[in-house]
Parts: sequence; structure tokens; C-alpha cells
Amino acid sequence: MTKKTPDTLRSARWFAPDDLRSFGHRSRMMQLGYAEEDFRGRPIIGVLNTWSELNTCHSHFRERVQDVKRGVAQAGGFAVEMPSLSVDESFTKPTSMLYRNLLAMETEEMIRSHPLDGVVLMGGCDKTTPGLVMGAISAGVPMIYLPAGPMLRGNYAGKILGSGSDAWKYWDERRAGNITDEEWLGVQGGIARSAGTCMTMGTASTMTAIADAMGLTLPGASSIPAVDSGHMRMSADCGRRITEMVWEDLTPDQIITDAACRNAAVVAMATGCSTNAVVHLIAMARRAGVNLTLDDLDALGRSTPLIANVRPSGKDYLMEDFYYAGGLRALMKQIEDRLDTSCLTVTGKTMGENLEGAQVFNDDVIRPLSNPVYKEGSLAVLRGNLCPDGAVIKPAACDPKYYQHEGPALVFDSYPEMKAAVDDEDLEITPDTVMVLRNAGPQGGPGFPEWGMLPIPKALIKQGHRDMLRISDARMSGTSYGACVLHVAPESFVGGPLALLRTGDIVRLDLDARRLDMLVPEEEIAARRAAWKAPEPRFGRGYGVMFSRHVSQADQGCDFDFLQSDYGRPTGEPDIF
Ligand code: FES
Repeated sequence: MTKKTPDTLRSARWFAPDDLRSFGHRSRMMQLGYAEEDFRGRPIIGVLNTWSELNTCHSHFRERVQDVKRGVAQAGGFAVEMPSLSVDESFTKPTSMLYRNLLAMETEEMIRSHPLDGVVLMGGCDKTTPGLVMGAISAGVPMIYLPAGPMLRGNYAGKILGSGSDAWKYWDERRAGNITDEEWLGVQGGIARSAGTCMTMGTASTMTAIADAMGLTLPGASSIPAVDSGHMRMSADCGRRITEMVWEDLTPDQIITDAACRNAAVVAMATGCSTNAVVHLIAMARRAGVNLTLDDLDALGRSTPLIANVRPSGKDYLMEDFYYAGGLRALMKQIEDRLDTSCLTVTGKTMGENLEGAQVFNDDVIRPLSNPVYKEGSLAVLRGNLCPDGAVIKPAACDPKYYQHEGPALVFDSYPEMKAAVDDEDLEITPDTVMVLRNAGPQGGPGFPEWGMLPIPKALIKQGHRDMLRISDARMSGTSYGACVLHVAPESFVGGPLALLRTGDIVRLDLDARRLDMLVPEEEIAARRAAWKAPEPRFGRGYGVMFSRHVSQADQGCDFDFLQSDYGRPTGEPDIF
């Protein structure tokens, strides 16, 4: 259904008027070698590309841009590639999370300030999906998300290796002296074999699945391996489809509804999602004016079985296997009756229509509901006197013996302090000890780093232990595993109760009751609170100051207060220039 005409395209504001400003715009396009018929009266599509030579997950994006452009041209549009902040997970210090909101701001402002009628968002490495989507939601023009796709399975000495998960596993074995340097180097060379995102169900695959389930990608696009020829075809399809979406005026507000956000949460739970999904999903939903809460996610988690047998929550398989087993469409087909299939998607069709014909080809990878990997969803939300505003744990990825646990706290105020202790072979610690790291949240980290999978102390590793209860106000990588309580809110750096915990205090986790408490008398907690002093701010200048002043806590999605949809003036562009 066509709603837009050449005269009503957004880009016509730049190119159509017979005035001096538009003369300048047209002449500058001609400077680039284009004739007026190339760009006037056609949908102008911005291809927002998060490629960089230090973003290994997006190293194929330079070629994929050409596929997108081909698709746009075939559909009668005009594509322009625009570089976007390339927030990569591997190299960014102190943490990529510090820059998710910067990417969101850049995305919104680049779209708003340029003559674009629609955008293709090219991302995939963890923070790029929420960053691009959050910005594009606020910009409000038609958009389609092009996921980078997972890399191929890792391989070394006949063993399949999974991103992140096997790195941690082999690192522990190396620390215990169980593998040689040669084996360690073999793992290093074999664990990342191609372009694409981490190929476990880590944050990247979780977030692209969420975008897919929200209706923002072509159906099932998130599962296609980065180097599969199908990925090139999907890229060209994105180009064709976004051009049609512009004529249809199919804007994100028609797609990202309350029901679409709930669909995304249900699908995330069924995939065994990364704990990071909680933070990003809440932030994305809020940009769209949807008030998704931690309690909503816990309720959806309790009622959704985990059916993707993909590491780290699943035992055996990786994203490449998931694709061959039918991919996300097949998984969604399995849980179709738990989804609102009437939701509109970028195809212009409903979610239900997109799922027609989807099939599972390997029911050990994508399990039937009668044989789930884990009977509940993969995440649980805790509350208690240690985390009044919530904390998150991934029960499916930890030893069930920690579901009910009581033990003495061993508290660290900084990552270096904790790191020195875990390498001390004489550290006094027992398997019941609860290791705690604080000052690692959004403001304290700074930037909410992925430190939450605290390393198991050498002293315990040598005794054969590979898991223990750990608590922090940090996040953890989606490829991590273990009994790790994360995202404790409010964080200790701003005076959350974790700041008041002391080594030796008894901590109790009761997963069934969704409680996390320190067994310390109320009056003692009050006395400690009265004596607590706020630490110095982490930043004295620059972007970090803005981050610290405006970032919200984990339970609110860590967006900046002034970027949320309910801040001050309504979303939209001031049409005054
Ligand atoms: Fe990019 Fe894992 S490092 S997705």
C-alpha cells in the first residue's frame, strides 16, 4: 500500500524546493557525480555501517553494503553508505557498554540531520544492535535491521569451540596447569574462524534474535551465518524491502509495540538468552514508549521453556547448528501459541504470516516443548535487601546446587583487588564462600563492564571446583556461565546495599523465592549506611561526565534520562530549518 509520493518524501525537504539552500544540496549531490534523476523523487536510504578494522565481527560489512545498495537500486531507491560508531566488544576499554548510548545518539542525530527517507542498520556485535535500534526508534523513519550473523563454529584438534564459553573453560584449565602452551595457542587460533559475531547464544545472537522477534529484521535473518551466501542475498533483500517500506511509510512505532516487546522477551527466554538482554530490551522498549519491567521479564521467564540447545545454556550446539536446524523462525514456530502473531513486521506482514511454513530440521537443537533444555526461561530476577531494585541470574547456566545457598561473603572493592586474590593459591576460601565484586556497575565500573563472571580462585580450581556463587553489580558476557548474580541495583557506587556488605557477612540466595539477602540485622545495616561515604566521580571531563550524570540504573535499561521517550518534548524533529 503506497502512502508516500515523491513530493512527500522526507528527502524532498532537502532537494525539491526552488530556493538557495536546496540549490546547494542538489549541486553537492552533482559534485558526487549524480544526476538529478538519480536522487530526486526517489527514497534515499541511509545504510548505517558499523564496520571498522577493529570490529572483527563486522569485517564482512564492506562487501555487504554493496549487496544492500544493489537491492535499493533494484527497487528504485538511492542508497548512501554512512559510517557509524563501531562499538566492538573485543577491544573497547573500559567496556563497550560505555558507548552503547553514544552510538544510539549518533544514530538518531545522523538520521535526523540528513536527507534520509529510510535506513538499513548494519550491526551485530553486542552493543551495536541495541545502540542502532534505540537511535533509529527515536529518529522515527522507516528502518530495517541487518544482523551481521554468527561466525562459523570454532575448531581445534578435532574439538568444536564456542566463542567465550570455551575461552573461559580452557583458561581455567590453563590456570590449573592441565593444558600445555601449545594447546592454549591452538585454541587461540581456532576459536574465531570467520567474519561474524560470537557463535554461542551470547549477547550478539541474543540481541539479533530480539530484533528479529520484534519484527525489525527480515524473518529469520538473525540466524544466517555471516559468511553464508544466504547472508548476501538477505542483505540485498534488506535493500529492496526498505525502499518499499518508505513508500508504505512503515515506521518503527507501528512495529515496536507492547506486544512486539513481549514477543521479543519470550523468544529471548526460549533461546537461553544472555543476561544482557534484560538491560538492552528494557532500554529499547522504553525508547518506543513501552514500559517493560524486570518483573515482566521474570514472569515471562517463569512461563517460557528454554528450547534452543545452544551453548552456553544448552549443552551441545552452536549458532551454525541452530541455523541448519531451522533457525529462529523454526524456534518461534515451536512457541507460536505464546506469541502475539498479529504484530506487524518490516515485511508489512504479521509475525504469524512470516512464520508460515517454518520447520524444525533437528529436534535436538531446537527442542519441542515436551523436551525442553530447561523447563523455565533462562533468566530470573531477584530482589532482597542486597538488591531492592533487582538483580539477574541465569539459572540454566549454573550448577543447580546453588539455587539455594548460604555462605560467607568475600568482598572486593575493585577488579584489580579481586584479580590478585583469585590468583593467590593460599587464599582462604571454601566452596561455600560467596565472592562479591562491587563498584562495577553503570557508574562505578565505569560503564557497567562484563566482570560478573568472577574467576574461580585458583585455590578452588586445584580442588576441582568449577563453579561458586558470585555476586556483583557488573554485567557478564552472554557467553559466560556459572552461578553469577549480576546487575545488582542500585549499584554500590551510588550507595546501593551492596556497598554495605562486609567480608564474613552471611549471604543467602533463594532462587525459588527470587530472594537475595545479607543476613545482617536491620540496625547494623542502618549504622553502616550512616557511615557510608560516596566515592569520587569516575570522570572529570568529556563524554564520561555526561555518561555518569545521566545514565540510569540497570533495572531502567541504562539509557540516558534525556534520551528516553518520556523526557520533556515529544520525540520528533524540530522542523524549523
Ligand atoms: Fe563481537 Fe562477540 S565480540 S559478538
